[in-house]
Amino acid sequence: MYHVLSAHQFDRNQLDHLFRMADIMEYTAANGGSNVLNGKIMAALFFEPSTRTRLSFESAMLRLGGTVISTENAAQFSSAIKGETLEDSIRVISSYADVIVLRHNEVGAATRAAKVSDVPVINAGDGAGEHPTQSLLDLFTIQKELGKIDGLHIAMVGDLTYGRTVHSLSYMLSRYQNVTLYFVSPDNCPIPQKVKDYLDEQGVTYFEENDLQQVAEKVDVLYMTRIQKERFPSGEEYLKAAGKYVIDQNVLNLMKQNAIIMHPLPRAGEILPEVDADPRAAYFRQAKNGVYIRMALLAYCLGGKQAEAELEALAKVMG
Ligand code: CP
Repeated sequence: MYHVLSAHQFDRNQLDHLFRMADIMEYTAANGGSNVLNGKIMAALFFEPSTRTRLSFESAMLRLGGTVISTENAAQFSSAIKGETLEDSIRVISSYADVIVLRHNEVGAATRAAKVSDVPVINAGDGAGEHPTQSLLDLFTIQKELGKIDGLHIAMVGDLTYGRTVHSLSYMLSRYQNVTLYFVSPDNCPIPQKVKDYLDEQGVTYFEENDLQQVAEKVDVLYMTRIQKERFPSGEEYLKAAGKYVIDQNVLNLMKQNAIIMHPLPRAGEILPEVDADPRAAYFRQAKNGVYIRMALLAYCLGGKQAEAELEALAKVMG
């Protein structure tokens, strides 16, 4: 049984393999999908709001011939509201489905769920903890857009304390050679010490900065994040961080011509709409790649080597 709980669990070979499968999935999706997961059921259990993660997982499952059961506001519309523990819910749901995709407000929830589940659990975001499938699609996007990940200079900007996507992305980037990271954040939401300790252990070069303009001109990837109002301890703390970093035409003018701008989305003012038409704005292409990465993950978790072999053969036949 293969759970997807943390960015830490992926080594470089697995990442390369998943990205190759995601390429095949893009081709498969464009050619009518596949039935390799026919008869399999995915449960989407979301205790926090989501547009991209939930719908792209559902789309991925349907494109592989599987079916979906879901609760999009589990905190209110599942038996959690009656006091049922996460563990009890998971024990029951794992008898209804072949895989559980879980988004939860508490750090570590997916790991707790995996301990009692009879089927694979995929972490679709656990509070301010991790969001490993987002990082997979982020890296897949960088590789597609720039042709490589080794040697790149990558800035992560915004709410780096509560932004789970940047935690997972930092961990996963440590699997690549000679990457240089720039963490640009307001003073009250810096990258956590835990992440820096890990990067130190892995020998990754990183800098903590607060001048976005200086960083923008030297990086290959500018990864923006939303200041997450809902996770700050008070409205006052949120206001200290909000609006400090904004990508507009002035920042675009400073950036390299072949750099890209990414964002896990949703955005809340940190990338102005005037940026969207610039070819370097990669965030909507990034969101689209989520379907292909999640197809690859579901095939890996549920179909195993046989499903992957079928898909590879199909891609070969189709040219
Ligand atoms: N990137 C991301 O996790 O988006 P959603 O919250 O819409 O799923």
